[in-house]
Amino acid sequence: MSLPGKNPPAVAGGMQQWLSSIVMSAVALLLTLGPTHVQGSCDIFRGNWVPDSSGPLYTSSSCPLIIRAENCQANGRPDKGYENWRWKPERCALPRFDARKFLKLMRGKTLAFAGDSIAQNQMESLLCILWQVDTPINLSDRRMSRWIFNSTSITIIRIWSPWLLYNSKEAVGIAPEGLNKVFLDIPDKTLMEFLPGFDVLVLSFGHWFVTPSAYILNGTVVGGQSWWPLEAGKMQMNNIDAFGASTETCLTAVATNPNFKGIAILSTYSPDHYERGAWNVGGSCTGKVNPLDKAMRDVFIDAMYVKQVAGFRKVVKNSGEQGSKLKLMSITEPFALRVDGHPGPYTNLDPNKKTQRGPDGRPPPQDCLHWCVPGPIDTWNKMLFETIRR
Ligand SMILES: *[C@@H]1O[C@H](CO)[C@@H](O)[C@H](O)[C@H]1NC(C)=O
Ligand SMILES: *[C@@H]1O[C@H](CO)[C@@H](O)[C@H](O)[C@H]1NC(C)=O
Ligand SMILES: *[C@@H]1O[C@H](CO)[C@@H](O)[C@H](O)[C@H]1NC(C)=O
Repeated sequence: MSLPGKNPPAVAGGMQQWLSSIVMSAVALLLTLGPTHVQGSCDIFRGNWVPDSSGPLYTSSSCPLIIRAENCQANGRPDKGYENWRWKPERCALPRFDARKFLKLMRGKTLAFAGDSIAQNQMESLLCILWQVDTPINLSDRRMSRWIFNSTSITIIRIWSPWLLYNSKEAVGIAPEGLNKVFLDIPDKTLMEFLPGFDVLVLSFGHWFVTPSAYILNGTVVGGQSWWPLEAGKMQMNNIDAFGASTETCLTAVATNPNFKGIAILSTYSPDHYERGAWNVGGSCTGKVNPLDKAMRDVFIDAMYVKQVAGFRKVVKNSGEQGSKLKLMSITEPFALRVDGHPGPYTNLDPNKKTQRGPDGRPPPQDCLHWCVPGPIDTWNKMLFETIRR
């Protein structure tokens, strides 16, 4: 399954600067408002990457589940340094993932991931980590991927839902049949159906808001992405607004569902690293072997992050006591530094694949969006463990 990278948001050239400064002040504001996700006395999402020679929790040969496109070492990636960094929060330590402790903590419980292929990427990392101490049984069906650890009665589920909302291809108003319609006020039906059975739900999405779509609110077409008829005049909502609306709709439905007694963890927008152009116009992360010291600022990623965090806060505030079911995993900033963590050109076994820029400077085909497994995404699961534990 392929996933698109991002396109720049639909803003005219002169607006870009203006939007950029608004977004930057919003980021600054979020930071000065203080940590939103302080857990105990330590914000585990603020810190830095430090070298760590203890190595990954598993390897491409000790986990049979790694999907081809993310199995970087098996696909011939020559460097390994990207596996040897540890996230060090400013005021505490994030312990190495102890799979036995995790299975003990989660005994009898169900953990579900819902979202796009980044959610799949994180589940794969978690299953690989746990696989080192116990082998789960695959009980997947067409509606969801499902793995059971028989001895501890733990179920791990993944629901494919790239917008976390109801969507269809049927014609709606001015939006033609065949185009994806994303209903901004209707949560995903499969997710809502199974929600009461979940003890922990991890939500991870956002990258499908760059795909051609029409956005529907209260039955009316209010915007679109890579689609909008000129004669319809000005659109009310662009893809970034739609992402904010989706975050609010889904979180509200989850928090206020009286039969859901678990916790829901929103993982923030996963940063990609296509430098010098989008995924489809020569953007590249070829040859990146170390984390950055300082994140590259990206107007689109910043805007998505700000919208999502604002949506999260609004729902927590409006949901009263139920709001305490919601937690934030603020991974965007830490992982903006991990330009080295993506498969790049190492997405397949082809021994003759291009891995370097050509003589004309053109980069090889590559994936700078998903994460190598093993790789920095294993740290998401350490953060998840810590978030559940607290
Ligand atoms: C798990 O089971 C499903 C359904 O039988 C199958 O399609 C899928 O390939 C299996 N996954 C793995 C990793 O074995
Ligand atoms: C799972 O556990 C049950 C009872 O604990 C047992 O009957 C069953 O055979 C186990 N399944 C597998 C595949 O190990
Ligand atoms: C939704 O649309 C209906 C008419 O189709 C209108 O009566 C109603 O007030 C609208 N609701 C909202 C929340 O805008």
